[in-house]
Amino acid sequence: MKNGKVIFFDTTLRDGEQCPGASMNLRQKLEVARQLEKLGVDVIEAGFPVASEGDFESVSTIARTVKKCRVAGLARCTEQDIRKAAAAVAPAGDRARIHVFLATSPLHREFKLKMSKEEVLARAVEGVKLAKSLVEDVEFSAEDASRTELDFLAQVVEAVIDAGATTVNLPDTVGFTTPGEYAAMIAYMREHVRNIEKCILSVHCHNDIGLAVANSLAAVQAGARQVEGTINGIGERAGNVAIEEVAMALTTRPEALGFAKGENPHNLNTREIVRTSRVVSRMSGMMVQRSKAIVGENAFAHSSGIHQHGILAKRETYEVINPADVGWGATELPLTKHSGRAAVKARLERLGHTLSNDELTHVFERFKKVGDSKKFVYDDDLASLVNDSLDTRNGVWKMHQIQFVAGSAACPTATVTLEKEGKKFTDSAIGNGPVNACFKAIDRITRSKGSLVDFNVHATSCGQDALGEVSVKVQFCEHERPVSGKGAATDIIEASARAYLNALNRHLTLSSIKA
Ligand code: KIV
Ligand code: ZN
Repeated sequence: MKNGKVIFFDTTLRDGEQCPGASMNLRQKLEVARQLEKLGVDVIEAGFPVASEGDFESVSTIARTVKKCRVAGLARCTEQDIRKAAAAVAPAGDRARIHVFLATSPLHREFKLKMSKEEVLARAVEGVKLAKSLVEDVEFSAEDASRTELDFLAQVVEAVIDAGATTVNLPDTVGFTTPGEYAAMIAYMREHVRNIEKCILSVHCHNDIGLAVANSLAAVQAGARQVEGTINGIGERAGNVAIEEVAMALTTRPEALGFAKGENPHNLNTREIVRTSRVVSRMSGMMVQRSKAIVGENAFAHSSGIHQHGILAKRETYEVINPADVGWGATELPLTKHSGRAAVKARLERLGHTLSNDELTHVFERFKKVGDSKKFVYDDDLASLVNDSLDTRNGVWKMHQIQFVAGSAACPTATVTLEKEGKKFTDSAIGNGPVNACFKAIDRITRSKGSLVDFNVHATSCGQDALGEVSVKVQFCEHERPVSGKGAATDIIEASARAYLNALNRHLTLSSIKA
């Protein structure tokens, strides 16, 4: 078990998507899944099928679409969850995995589950047996493993392996452990669990005190062979371990981490890392910090003269990774309004977006409009148009026209025309600024009342004619989670209105699924 490559289990679409504001619709999840497949992750955890109809649908659609990776669906240790997960992953055939979890730590047993050790043990075995009767590939996670008594944890691990689990995951659910302690936990399992050779030991680290990468690597050195994480490290609270960081640590320092010199410790195509990071960031609305390792914009930027001189003389003086090896530097000439449909399609594919003909038509229309108002359409401009135009197309309400008046001496006023089922609706509103006036006009037309929870704007490319990409989080119902939305346009007020409308459309879709 200690030998062999590290399996990457990507949970961007489940644990990552659980992070506030990162929720994605089906189209966005599919784009992420396709790109994860290009990256070469071994397992995609596509969602938690019992959570909602939307989750079920996205897990089963991903299971149908993805052709190489295993596809996992999460389930608590209950019959309903497990059967639902089995049905959702079924289209993946022999690549289907059910991921069953149950907490094992004293805190969770006493306060959350109100179950004794014996009851937890019995429930875990029962859950794994049921899952095993439905699929061949069963993973069991002992939630909060890192705060569980080692002897009890070993008992649970042994019992679930006997019950049929082929992967056993020992999560650091609250990001509490340290590298030495986590490695010792893995070593303890290898020493004390009789049938341990029959399973792959897996680790799942959260980053609450910034130790997720160190903990995952320590566990790999101790013999774990599956690492669970997310792209860009998105996830609950401080996030999950960033897959790209663990992968590049393994690629760059194999010998320091227990692999032979020249050995490739995993199956990822590292040249797809930056592209994957961009796709996840765009689809989830979660921006990547500029100085983030590997995928941040400044990760390979050398500003000091001494460093620049060193790099020019020999790259290795100040770079431990060749940026091209993770996919940096592949920028091509920007497109212009004269670029044809085939060129736009080819560029989108290189950026990780595979669109149907119909989808391409919509994006191409938007591209032409933007190309009229801007000399060059850069890759990031184009990618942000994908989200904006496809979500607009699928939404109940479509933006038709927008006008506004603002200035230090004017009362900010907006007039908006929206389209629904072929009919046009126009209304005006005043606000404390043009953006606020647009949101109010949209509220009046659609008879909704959103309150803005978060607002971010950034330029997708360089220059004064850059596209403005706006991300918003809006709460439409007091008791519901805020919904995120995105919009892009050369005018940031228009981009804001598009983002707000996108959030409203997503809220309406979610409400109709629940109804
Ligand atoms: O953090 C955690 O413990 C989890 C489990 C459900 C695997 O996400
Ligand atoms: Zn987790």
